[in-house]
This record gives sequence, C-alpha cells and structure tokens, in this order.
Amino acid sequence: MGTRQITVLGLESSCDETAAAIVRLTLDTQGQLAGAGEIISNQVLSQIELHAPYGGVVPEIAARAHITHMDGLVKQALEEAGMRLAQLDAIAATAGPGLIGGVLIGLTTGKALALAAQKRFIGINHLEGHALTARMTQGVEFPYLLLLVSGGHCQLLGVTGLGQYQELGSTMDDAVGEAFDKAAKLLSLGYPGGPEIERWAREGNPEAYPLPRPLIDRHNLDTGSGAELACEFSFSGLKTALRQKAEKLAPLKDTHVRDLAASFQAAVLDCLADRTRNAMHVFRMLHNLSGEIPLVVAGGVAANQALRARLDMEASAQGYALCVPPPALCTDNAAMIAWAGAERMASAERMASAESEADAMATSAKARWPLADLSA
Ligand code: KG4
Ligand code: ZN
Repeated sequence: MGTRQITVLGLESSCDETAAAIVRLTLDTQGQLAGAGEIISNQVLSQIELHAPYGGVVPEIAARAHITHMDGLVKQALEEAGMRLAQLDAIAATAGPGLIGGVLIGLTTGKALALAAQKRFIGINHLEGHALTARMTQGVEFPYLLLLVSGGHCQLLGVTGLGQYQELGSTMDDAVGEAFDKAAKLLSLGYPGGPEIERWAREGNPEAYPLPRPLIDRHNLDTGSGAELACEFSFSGLKTALRQKAEKLAPLKDTHVRDLAASFQAAVLDCLADRTRNAMHVFRMLHNLSGEIPLVVAGGVAANQALRARLDMEASAQGYALCVPPPALCTDNAAMIAWAGAERMASAERMASAESEADAMATSAKARWPLADLSA
C-alpha cells in the first residue's frame, strides 16, 4: 500500500531528442520505493532526420530544433496525462552532460515553468536518468551493476544507492554507440548506425573477418596483474581495423557489408561481454555480495538484441540477473529524467534535506558531468 505519490514533469534536450514526460513514483509506508513507477505521459521528438544528412548530430541544428519544439512537447505531455502544471509536485530537467546549447534550452524551460507554477525545480544528470531507468520500469532494488552504453558513454558502474555510483571502468577512446555510428558511416549505412549495423549483421557471417578485441586478456584478475584494465573499454583500434578491411575489399558488395557488420558487431559484443564479466566479479567481491545481483543495461545500445542475448548468458553464468528496460526507454527520453527527479525528491524528503529553491534555480548547464561526481 502506497502512502505517498510524487508526480514530476521531466524535460530532456541534451542530445538529439526533444522530450517531455510525466511520471509518478509511489512510496510505501516506510518511505521506500513501492515497486515500478507509472509513466503517465511520454512525448519524444527525435531529430534523427535533421542530422542524418551529416552522419552525426550537429549541435547548432539540435539546439534550434529543441527551442522550436520544447514548449509544444510540454503541452502535449500535459494533455496526454490530462493534467495541469498545478497538479505536479516538481519539474525536473537535464542539466548535463550533453551538448550545451541543447541542455540550456531544457534547463531554462524547466526553471521558467517551475517559477511560473510555483513548483520545485530539480536539475538532473542525464546519466543518472539512464542509471535509474530500471527502477522506474522494473522496480529494481539497489545494489546493482550497471553497464551504460550509449552514443556518448560507455562505462561500468556499481550502483549501491541513489547518487552512489562507483565507476569500475569506462572507455579510453570512443563510446560504444559512437563506434557503431562510425562503423556504419564507413560502410555507407544510415544514421544512427547501431540499428543499421544490427540489421545488416543479422544476415552476415560473424566469423568472416577476424577483427581485434581490444584489451581482452590483458589482465589477470587472480594475480592482480593488469587488473586496472579489467573493466576498461577501447574501440578505436577495432574501428581502424574495420576501415582497413573495408578499404581492401572495396568496392563493397552487399555480402561484404553484411559480413563486415556481423564481424564488427561480434567483436564489440565480445569486448562488452568480457569487460562486463570482469566487472560482475569485481563488484561482487568489492561489496561482499551474495545471491543474485541485477545486471542492468542502459543507454541506446541496450536496444541491441544480440547484445541482450549475449549478456543474458554471461549474467546467468555469474549469478546475476539481466535487466534491460524496454528499447524506447533505453534511448534518450524524458520519463527517465522525471523519474530521477522523483527519486531525488523522495530521498530529500526522507533525509529532510531539501535543496533550497535558490540553489535549485542556480543549477548550471554542464557539458561534462561524470556520474561518479554525484557520489562526492
Ligand atoms: O542513449 P542514446 O539514445 O543517446 C545518447 O548517446 O545519450 O544512444 C544512442 C546511441 C547511438 O550511437 C546509436 O547508434 C546506438 O545508441 N544504438 C544502437 C542500437 N540502437 C541505438 N547501437 C547498437 N545496436 C542498436 N540496436
Ligand atoms: Zn543518453
């Protein structure tokens, strides 16, 4: 039985999706999360078509599109929910990390709405939104291991509580989504590249071309030698190897593209599986955890079905349970921002430590904002 509900409007504009959503969190009599949240409305406008001709996100075009559409999306989110601003408990917006022009638009809109409606404002770290999504969709409890794989990020984090994110490893060069996007571009496939590579890979031979698996086997967890590399990622060497192979095979026929896509995806999956396997081991040891631990996968790349199947296998073998939010909530959206806002509000109430309104309104937009900074 829930005792308190927190309803939050969330805004997202840090990359190439303009989004507004209303989400409700329910607390039980002990003030703890009473299961999954309720997504009351969820409006997402993708700018993919605007950026596709350039093969990547153009910051100025993104910012202009966010400005044009944010107000309308807020209105639609309220209409879809059949609610007025007055019925909300708070308004949350992404404050970073991301493309600064875009972040500023959502953040400023959120503050203005909060001021006008006399509601609390909460600035949210976009990565925390991804990190907490599985709590909204599946009510997953702390602690869990998080593999965050998107266009801008690739990291393994131990999540032991709200705001408690310990980085176990991250990428030394490209993010994994970025690697998919670059691979697709050099195979002349569409943008975003992840779904294209996955589609072409489905009919290709993953063993057609042996591509490198950067960093795999460069450590020994038992002896500790090279252990600092056990959960790190690197994709730039793989990308270069793919380019060289493609150049040798040029002009590329469809069968080449299928086999190259399949070989590339297989190499990426091997890297992600290997690093995650190490992190599962490290996380269990670090916190002396027994029993089944959730392995949550978040970010746009979590939409990849082959990755899910692979991680499911790896997780079961290590006594972990794979948990992946539905694809539409793995890619950028505002429901996750609203949810993070609701969790932050619930936590502040529990600790009677609400941030002052002036402090919340002073939240600045940040291009860079590592998740691990929230634990400080
Ligand atoms: O989380 P997201 O929507 O945006 C951020 O980067 O924050 O992630 C987008 C990334 C893109 O790089 C896209 O190519 C990748 O996720 N992606 C995929 C798939 N769907 C999206 N990568 C691999 N397989 C997919 N099915
Ligand atoms: Zn994202």
